[in-house]
Amino acid sequence: MSNDDLTAFIQHLPKAELHVHIEGTFEPEWMFRIAERNGIALDFPDVETLKRAYRFNNLQEFLDIYYIGANVLITEEDFYDLTMAYLRKCHEQTVVHAEIFFDPQTHTDRGVAFDTVIRGIRRALEEGERRLGITTRLIMCFLRHLTEESAMETLAQARPYREWIIGVGLDSSELGHPPSKFQRVFDLARQEGYALMAHAGEEGPASYIREALDLLHVSRIDHGNRCLDDPALVEELVARQIPLTLCPLSNLELKVIRDLSDHPVKIMLDRGLLATIHSDDPAYFGGYMNENYLQTALAVGLDREVLRRLAVNSFKASFLADDLREEWIRRVDQYCEAYP
Ligand code: HPA
Ligand code: ZN
Repeated sequence: MSNDDLTAFIQHLPKAELHVHIEGTFEPEWMFRIAERNGIALDFPDVETLKRAYRFNNLQEFLDIYYIGANVLITEEDFYDLTMAYLRKCHEQTVVHAEIFFDPQTHTDRGVAFDTVIRGIRRALEEGERRLGITTRLIMCFLRHLTEESAMETLAQARPYREWIIGVGLDSSELGHPPSKFQRVFDLARQEGYALMAHAGEEGPASYIREALDLLHVSRIDHGNRCLDDPALVEELVARQIPLTLCPLSNLELKVIRDLSDHPVKIMLDRGLLATIHSDDPAYFGGYMNENYLQTALAVGLDREVLRRLAVNSFKASFLADDLREEWIRRVDQYCEAYP
């Protein structure tokens, strides 16, 4: 298949996005617009200069800039605009279902109310479903570089909005902040009925994935690249079909891999892992879902059948109700069968 064919095939392939941080969809153009309307000066004179700063040697260098960008988000309208812009992007890319992370502590720690953040996001999600037909779920992440106590407080702040949040996750600086640090928070979240997931094995070792499974009882692993270092762990992830939400362009930009051709997605699928492809922080890493699919397909050599499997996996790994999940898997198969 030519590159143009591959591009067209991916463009209309129905997909679910399961690993995206809403703060990571903050495009520089919107950042400047919102900063201006809030009377905040950015440290960069223009979009081009800001974009030139998007060069990272590791996760921490990225996070330092990512938190600065998020500082201009103040009002409910800001969170609404941010989320709405992302949903329009989904619509353009045939992403029909999106499970979106938000980081309340990034905002509450600088005096923005939890209520402001979640109401802005929620209003956009309702509108996105109504006007664009995109189904969504919202997932609250705890910042792992902060304390257990701060995560506990955040879980308490979420209680009035329980029905708007499907699950909880764990993100930010991985090394030195193992899942075990949040065992009690996840115990409580489990009792409250949240779905559980955690970033693990992005920069951290395979043992962090093991901890996420055994101590936090997660049903999904975000990234999980390093599982390949531990054959027994791989065996368990395969047996239990625990999804791994991979983010190839993120891995490349954060130097988790040296070259996109080194990305382990194909190896993982061949071993029977339930691997999926997502965008993580698309405004920072140079691509949304379709760019992640296309560039990985070209670099690793994924054919249409593998892309079909990735799209099917994205629905399998989602928190959609069973009937809708099955319906989308049928539609993916129909699309692929009918494709010339
Ligand atoms: N890893 C950890 N934390 C994050 C990431 C990531 O890739 N993106 C946004 N927060
Ligand atoms: Zn992530």
